[in-house]
Amino acid sequence: MSTATARRPADRALPSTTPSTTPSTPVVADDLDGLPVRDPEPGGELLPGYTALDRLGVGQRCETWLAWSAELWHPVVLKLPRLHQLDHPRARASLRREAVALFDGHPVLPRLVADGADEPVPYVAVELLSGECLADLVEDGPRPGHEVASLGAQLLAGLRHLHRRGLAHLDVKTENVLLVGSGGTGVPRLVDLGSARSIGREQPPGKPVGTLGYAAPEMEACAPLSAAMDLYGLGTVLAELLTGLPFPDGAGAAVAGLDDPVAAVVLRLLDDDPGERGRSDEVLVALAALAGDLRPWPEWADDLLVRAGAPA
Ligand SMILES: Nc1ncnc2c1ncn2[C@@H]1O[C@H](COP(=O)(O)OP(=O)(O)OP(=O)(O)O)[C@@H](O)[C@H]1O
Ligand SMILES: [Mg+2]
Repeated sequence: MSTATARRPADRALPSTTPSTTPSTPVVADDLDGLPVRDPEPGGELLPGYTALDRLGVGQRCETWLAWSAELWHPVVLKLPRLHQLDHPRARASLRREAVALFDGHPVLPRLVADGADEPVPYVAVELLSGECLADLVEDGPRPGHEVASLGAQLLAGLRHLHRRGLAHLDVKTENVLLVGSGGTGVPRLVDLGSARSIGREQPPGKPVGTLGYAAPEMEACAPLSAAMDLYGLGTVLAELLTGLPFPDGAGAAVAGLDDPVAAVVLRLLDDDPGERGRSDEVLVALAALAGDLRPWPEWADDLLVRAGAPA
């Protein structure tokens, strides 16, 4: 399980003796763990065919880069292992999970543009989305209920697509959602599929998936993986948007004090008991109804959903 602290680009220079399997790439120390991250000049090579434009993020296993793809002649988002992870299987496994989850696309998920998870230095490249991270939007204060409901309904449609395929995202949080466009008409896109795993799979004892502070209680307790864990993750996103507070700073408790019908739906998503979080098709219909003029699909479509039946 990773921590709730946002990992920002590194800014401390490392001694030139820092070990690296790509010695020609300059490195700096990561702000949080002090381990090396790549630090090429803009225009420097990250991998053959991929040129560095900007570092977007540093996780425990992978670095995420805005990169230029020579093959596509287009900017892409490139994920590749941290330098200290190059010889470990975990980063490759995370990139494989990302490629598998994105293989069968959905409009809410970024498009997979290259699957290099089996290359000697594994990588995936995904569509570049130009949008504000929802975690940054939360800092601007609470959002109106109907806007939150509309975003929630759209995100849940994408999650249900994964669930129908037997996968759960398992790291749903505002830091992993980008808002393309602004305000009520913005469209959410869910990124970072590196944690996505099969529903029903056991977690290794003592090593829960997800992000500490955002994960459902049963997830932290290492229960078998479930779609209900993503419903809780969606609850954390919507609670942050409704309250303007980070989830680990009490957004859930603050939602309980709101007199808003959207808050009632969010509280249910955040129930400690996964069985009480509701069926995802019912939640979808409830959120769409509460989105008012921002309803993401016409009312008659709700009937189609009920007739189609609910995935797990
Ligand atoms: N498709 C994309 N388009 C634009 N920006 C993106 C895209 N994917 C990711 N980002 C940005 O890069 C950041 C880091 O990416 P991501 O969340 O996938 O990795 P991470 O959390 O650093 O790594 P890890 O998978 O190791 O947890 C995101 O928070 C987001 O701001
Ligand atoms: Mg992330």
